[in-house]
Amino acid sequence: MKKQIIFFTFALFTLVFSGCKYDFILPVPEDDNGGNGGNTNPVSFASQIFPILTNCTACHGAGKSIDFSAGAAYSTVSKLVNTASPAQSKIYTVPSPDGSHAMKYKTGEAALLLKWITEGAKNN
Ligand code: HEC
Repeated sequence: MKKQIIFFTFALFTLVFSGCKYDFILPVPEDDNGGNGGNTNPVSFASQIFPILTNCTACHGAGKSIDFSAGAAYSTVSKLVNTASPAQSKIYTVPSPDGSHAMKYKTGEAALLLKWITEGAKNN
């Protein structure tokens, strides 16, 4: 009799707890929009691309052949983009995260830049 009580208690617990199944909530991928953080608006040169290039001005500052200083940055960059084949743009390939340039983009920055070029590399 005692054994049976233990068995039924065990069976009851099993039944009750097997009903407590729940699905884990999967985290939303942080970067599901080509580096624009889920933002579907076009990438802005002034507020998103230019700030990345300010990291480069130690070598590519005013007066240099590649000049990313304010005022010159867009004109410099526009000569280094290839809107027909965005991923071949020098501004994208030279400092790529897996490249060997003196300074490289972070993965998110490279994705953002590529998206901006794909959208026509506008001075927006
Ligand atoms: C430590 C110095 C240094 C830093 C920092 C640096 N670069 Fe350069 N970069 C150079 C040198 C040197 C060259 C080759 C000479 C030249 O064209 O000015 C070059 C060339 C380039 C070129 C090729 C231009 C061409 O016409 O072939 C691109 C594009 C470029 N850099 C982008 C960047 C970007 C974007 C950053 C910032 C993420 C950066 N660089 C940071 C030194 C640097």
